[in-house]
Amino acid sequence: MRAHELRSAWDRFFERRGHTVVPSAGLIPHHPSAPMFTNSGMMPFVSYFLGEEAVPYDPPRASSIQKCVRAGGKHNDLDAIGRSTRHLSFFEMAGNFSFGDYFKAEMIPWAWEFVTSSVGEGGLGVDGDRIWATVHTTDDEAEAIWADVVGLPRQRIQRMGTDNFWEMGETGPCGPSSELFFDFGPEFGADGGPAQGSEWRYIEFWNLVFTQYFRGADGQLTDLPNTNVDTGLGFERTLALTEGSSSLYDADGMRQLVSGAEQVTGRSLGDSDLGDIALRLLADHTRSTAFLISDGVIPSNEDRGYVLRRIMRRAVRFAYLLDVSDAVLVPMIERCAEMMGDAYPDLRTNSELILGVAEREEGQFRTTLANGSTLLDQALDGLDDDATLPGAVAFKLHDTYGFPLEVTEEMAQLRGHEVDLAGFDAEMEQQRARAKAASKGGGVEVGEAADEFRRLITENGPTEFVGREVSTTEATVLGIVGGSVVLDRTPFYAESGGQVGDTGTLSWSGGSARVLDTTFALPGLTRHVLGNDAAPDVGGLSAGDTVTASIDVERRNAIRRNHTATHLLHWALRQVLGDHVKQQGSLVDETRLRFDFSHFQALSADEIVRIEDLVNREVLTGEPVSHEEMSRSDADERGAIAFFGEKYGDDVRVLEAGPSVELCGGTHVSALGQIGTVKVTSEASIGSNIRRIEASTGLNTIELLRRDEATLGALAAELGTSSDELLATMRRRNDDNKALRAEVGQLRTEAARSKAMSLAETATDGVIVARVEAASRDEVRDQALALRDRPGIRAVVLGAVPGGKGVTLVVATSVDGDLHAGELMAPAAKAISGGGGKGADLAVAGGKNADGLDEALEMLRTALGIS
Ligand code: SER
Repeated sequence: MRAHELRSAWDRFFERRGHTVVPSAGLIPHHPSAPMFTNSGMMPFVSYFLGEEAVPYDPPRASSIQKCVRAGGKHNDLDAIGRSTRHLSFFEMAGNFSFGDYFKAEMIPWAWEFVTSSVGEGGLGVDGDRIWATVHTTDDEAEAIWADVVGLPRQRIQRMGTDNFWEMGETGPCGPSSELFFDFGPEFGADGGPAQGSEWRYIEFWNLVFTQYFRGADGQLTDLPNTNVDTGLGFERTLALTEGSSSLYDADGMRQLVSGAEQVTGRSLGDSDLGDIALRLLADHTRSTAFLISDGVIPSNEDRGYVLRRIMRRAVRFAYLLDVSDAVLVPMIERCAEMMGDAYPDLRTNSELILGVAEREEGQFRTTLANGSTLLDQALDGLDDDATLPGAVAFKLHDTYGFPLEVTEEMAQLRGHEVDLAGFDAEMEQQRARAKAASKGGGVEVGEAADEFRRLITENGPTEFVGREVSTTEATVLGIVGGSVVLDRTPFYAESGGQVGDTGTLSWSGGSARVLDTTFALPGLTRHVLGNDAAPDVGGLSAGDTVTASIDVERRNAIRRNHTATHLLHWALRQVLGDHVKQQGSLVDETRLRFDFSHFQALSADEIVRIEDLVNREVLTGEPVSHEEMSRSDADERGAIAFFGEKYGDDVRVLEAGPSVELCGGTHVSALGQIGTVKVTSEASIGSNIRRIEASTGLNTIELLRRDEATLGALAAELGTSSDELLATMRRRNDDNKALRAEVGQLRTEAARSKAMSLAETATDGVIVARVEAASRDEVRDQALALRDRPGIRAVVLGAVPGGKGVTLVVATSVDGDLHAGELMAPAAKAISGGGGKGADLAVAGGKNADGLDEALEMLRTALGIS
């Protein structure tokens, strides 16, 4: 079966059964309980399973084919890839979902029907006699449906424990599952079914999860508001199975990428084990790379960017191991976009960004790899015969240079050394502990507060946000959790989309409290965080009371200006720099706006001016800004740009501000003129290929200009001139300074030289050893040479701390004498922690340790026999 055939068979089968066919969400998940990457089809729907958000489908059913990455966290398959033919880091999962609608009785027969009905009838056409099913040890109901409704012989239904209990991550929705297996036949391994037989023979390809629990951060299971269904059919696995293979690399799409890897590397499958691993790994890692970059991840040393970097580097490393010196990522990604661009058009629209990032990362890493090999060679050079390579070196190679331990071991063994594995493990353990400590303290609510917030949203639905229309409103208190208040409606904007939360006041008949911040406790549930002094009893306020909620309007206005300006800035950046500019993050508060975006180099002064001009010209039009709610498809029709990393439902808000059209849920000015003057205040790099720009608007720009003006005024006053004359005056001063410095230098040299000459009189037995003053190393040398060339002098040793920095030691010996300057110098140079000249009649050494100078001079006195 071809990939596009399976796509349409899946969509049609579930569409006919009342499901809304939903396009794949991005790889960056949004729910607070979600892991690093979207790792299964159900993840975009988590808040529907949890009852946090209303299900937008009628009936409440959906199906999708979701792109997934499993590389980090609970479901991490990265290390197996390439060696195993049954794991991928990027894969697609076909899924269907019931949100409190149908359950086991419908799902199990449907699964059977889809798998066993013929291709012509819209199924997979798989021989039902080859199918086994497993159910959870406790699940009598599922077993009965398989046996009595479907008619699957009882001997092909097996019960399993943890294997049949699926969990999204450490926390989140979960439940018992029933899995479908395909039996490849006795030539692939032992009988006994999935529970006892060979794992190479019985291959799982569809997981039906009956999602009915939530696992909290304390590990406890609680019932979800409804019973749900979440199924995941391995897309590549199913394609391979229809080709009679258990290898995912035989699936349509993967097969072509493996042959792409053969072309790019010049190796063929079957040439060698290492070669086969590399070819498969390249096929897999290319897809992860292309899709992750397309979804807004950029290789870096943190979080998702770090995982992406590991994936990319691993691919390059394997190519390097095969002695492939041409870049591999770019041609592989191009191949991938050809294969998958129809199903995922983003791969094509974002191709400039994807290829640019891939090319750079590979180039940089190839240099790193070459350096790593040098480091390893040096470390091995320094070892005695039979000594082991320290674990710390192997770990550094692994951690910094991406050398897997096996590669280091192999290279060390070639030169007769073992690696200290225990040392390596200890370093690894320490790093894990560090990583664990760093990953704690995420934003997920735990324990009682989380349960209370979930209860509030389940009972009352999401908080109504009225802050676009009004700045103050009456509202009813729904609950007080910790130091925060939940209302039925609110003008307070909860921090999201880069815009900070509002501040303001809540007042009621008995008192009032400051709201210091506003955030979402759960998607859609607004939490007003009160000042510490108000907590915990909030002055007698309790659920059911009426309050007046008022935001700080001045602050909100400043925030709005910065937010709308961010959109204009994004538009102008794309105009000036190109469409590869994509938002990577933003922060909008009352003082400034900050915008991170993908771009490969620093902005020039001229580019910044052009960007400012474009933005300010738009502001000056004073045109109205529109911020309307519409369907996602209408938004797409208007050409709205979606920010990476934002979650959008089916109904979205589209902000049109001048030429900029973007999806955005923030708060904005109603006309461009309200923004005031926009001024870029800084531009810098914050990681490879990511720039950060900051700007000010409105009254803040005026403040900024006033501050600069005041600084200039103060400077001018200090220099006794006017602001207009400042530059000319400053230049004159600098020239004067330069001339004065030169004059002083000359005077100093002359003084030093005449002082040196007086040293000639101190000669003992033709030898002079002295500490002198000098402005530079050259000056010390000149003094020494001038002294040496005087009659009767055999050797001159001068030491100085020129300009108060570093130590200079000079030994000059007469050209026709038998004293060797370099040999005299060698031991003395150690005393000043220095090194340098080894000449026979002149040795000049520079050192760091000024405290050692007297000792060095004393050593030379002794060596020259005058002490
Ligand atoms: N969530 C389940 C899985 O990932 C079924 O979709 O296997």
